[in-house]
Amino acid sequence: MPSPVVSVGGGGVGGFCFLPLPPAFSMSTENGNLKISKSSEKDSGPNQSVRGYDLIDAAKKALAAANCASTVSCADIITLATRDAVALAGGPTYTVPTGRRDGLVSNVDDVNLPGPSLSISEAFAFFKAKGLTLNEMVTLLGAHTVGVAHCGFFQDRLADFQGTGKPDPTMDPGLAARLLRTCGTASRPLNRDPTVFLDQGTNFIVDNQFYNQTIFKKGIMQIDQELALDRSTAPLVRSFAKNENLFRQSFVKAMIKMSQIQVLTGKAGEIRRNCRVVNPRK
Ligand code: HEM
Repeated sequence: MPSPVVSVGGGGVGGFCFLPLPPAFSMSTENGNLKISKSSEKDSGPNQSVRGYDLIDAAKKALAAANCASTVSCADIITLATRDAVALAGGPTYTVPTGRRDGLVSNVDDVNLPGPSLSISEAFAFFKAKGLTLNEMVTLLGAHTVGVAHCGFFQDRLADFQGTGKPDPTMDPGLAARLLRTCGTASRPLNRDPTVFLDQGTNFIVDNQFYNQTIFKKGIMQIDQELALDRSTAPLVRSFAKNENLFRQSFVKAMIKMSQIQVLTGKAGEIRRNCRVVNPRK
């Protein structure tokens, strides 16, 4: 059981984390926000597909039964659940500091996640602003070794890419044709917005295959594919693709670092009783 409030602690998950629903993972936001009101972080575009809220609720309920609901924050629950989900999916095991507190606001405007069609340098600006290095960005995007993306996030690559009348030339033509059948085109999308695996090789395993896929032009989202093409990131992608251990070690370090960004500790924030809403003000 994590200690109530320690002086340091990993924290507001710094922008992303997994919510564990092995083997499905999700992206989430800062400070353990699981609020469901219309204008909450959970409702922002990039987070609309986050899954696993029920699991976080269940963990909180179990803590309440043990009289710990006001001791363990939602931010810690999410961070620990993320750690466990990585291990359950065959990824590395690691320990993360606890002691985070939850945010007092949950605001859609606070969610600032980069889009999937950004260039490497544009995406890196976002990571740098959080104190993360380029190598750490390449490592963390390796989290796309699991989970899915909705067609809407990469459909523009499948046909008439940037007005060329053709698919994105950096995508394997066979893959583009297959995805086109699943997704339809950006101008004529299918009614529902289906999902496809982000790692076309070993989607349910946290491993280095994601990097191999990008080398074979099988990155689903443009940003993933760019990792293997951009001069600043390609060498590390090749190293990770060749050396699974190197990736695992790097992933552990980067995940721990990310979990310590923008942490609330001490008297800051609160320990939410219900992870979906801030505590009612007295
Ligand atoms: C430039 C940075 C990033 C961009 C642009 C990005 C973008 C996206 C997008 C658009 C999706 C698809 C969401 C959907 O269709 O529902 C996604 C999925 C995912 N992302 Fe990221 N992401 C980034 C970084 C990260 C990081 C740092 C992590 C974790 C360390 C991460 C973990 C995941 C996971 C696990 C999924 C699968 C979600 C699921 O199956 O529900 N991403 N990402």
